[in-house]
Amino acid sequence: MTINTIIGGQWGDEGKGKIIDHLAKKADVIARYSGGNNAGHTIENDHGKFALHLVPCGVGWEGTKNLIGSGTVIDPNVLIKELELIKENNLPGEIFISEKAHLIMPYHIKLDQAEENYRGNKAVGTTGRGIGPAYSDKISRNGIRMGDLSNLQSLKIKISENLKIKNKILKEIYGEEEISEADIFDKLDGWYKKLGKYISNTEKIIHENIKKDKFILLEGAQGALLDIDHGTYPFVTSSNSISGGSLTGLGIGAKEINKVLGVFKAFCTRVGEGPFPTEIFGEEAEKIREIAGEFGTTTGRPRRIGWFDAIAAKYSAQINGLDSIVITKLDILDHFEKIKVCTGYKHRGKEIDFFPSDEIVLSEIEPIYEEFNGWNESTYNVDSIEKINSNAKEFIKNLEKIIGIPIDIISTGPSRKATIIVNQI
Ligand code: IMP
Repeated sequence: MTINTIIGGQWGDEGKGKIIDHLAKKADVIARYSGGNNAGHTIENDHGKFALHLVPCGVGWEGTKNLIGSGTVIDPNVLIKELELIKENNLPGEIFISEKAHLIMPYHIKLDQAEENYRGNKAVGTTGRGIGPAYSDKISRNGIRMGDLSNLQSLKIKISENLKIKNKILKEIYGEEEISEADIFDKLDGWYKKLGKYISNTEKIIHENIKKDKFILLEGAQGALLDIDHGTYPFVTSSNSISGGSLTGLGIGAKEINKVLGVFKAFCTRVGEGPFPTEIFGEEAEKIREIAGEFGTTTGRPRRIGWFDAIAAKYSAQINGLDSIVITKLDILDHFEKIKVCTGYKHRGKEIDFFPSDEIVLSEIEPIYEEFNGWNESTYNVDSIEKINSNAKEFIKNLEKIIGIPIDIISTGPSRKATIIVNQI
């Protein structure tokens, strides 16, 4: 039995989708464990190019079981659209949704946006998809779960109770319009008709497949530095995006996981607000953003750009228990004479060798850089380590040495073939 967890090692958007799609070729089960449609994975395969927000990337492969686990939050309208897209494009994988996954209701979306407006210049920069309010309701035990859709009568009572409070908050605190109960009730039947057949006991499916010795991939969303506990709080998402989230978000025991794989870009990006020690601005940032197309898959927002942060990467390796690393977008660095990697932090004149948790300390960090020579040669679509030149190899070797974790895969472009397998997984 093999279970691999794949996580984003930075602030999300590391290119996990392509890597999961690549590994999913041999997988039997691919399971998403956290987040919602704040995430967006772009995959490019024989069926075309797709941005998926909820359904695991394994859906592009025949014979796969694609699970959306209990740790996720689901906007039913978004999932219905995604399922239609999958059907129209004949993506062959099977889909199962956990009966325990929580629903993002229309009031969560409205509250997310109202809370952000209310925060003013202290806004988190959320995706506005209702993620935080849906997880808040889950934790305060007011949530609506996928399984609730099957019992319309009790579901309506739960929604009414919720709406009484939400509407008060919306109206009296945020000065927003109330949400109509009738509008929500009107949608419930349609949601169940379209989603009901996918709602399942996903833990049972996973454990049956563990017993049968199948190959299972656990798919992370966002990145470790956006984790609610271990990320750059409060500028984080509302779930556990680190590898530990795959246990709680799918109902799997820690000892079942064989390998944890961390996906990192060869540089860094971040969307939304919050500290970003290696952030760069001006022409250099613009150049990376344009070449790499660094605009959010979900919101279209331009992503903030920075050099690779090895202090953050080492921290990420620890909190995720990384066994190996995938480096994506190496080809973007083809266009630079000199490439920087942050190998140390300075705070108020003093060197520190850890990733601080305090948002003010983090925002005051001065990165200490090591500079590497560029390679003046295209690595775009290169598929073997022998085909990249010595400077690019040197860069990769140094990253591996600095982080202290082996690099197993290097991605050199969005397509399936633009993949260098350094060590077979
Ligand atoms: P939320 O998850 O919408 O509540 O947003 C919280 C923070 O996480 C914001 O800074 C978002 O930009 C960021 N975020 C959420 N999902 C993603 C993602 O998939 N990629 C990158 N950033 C994300």
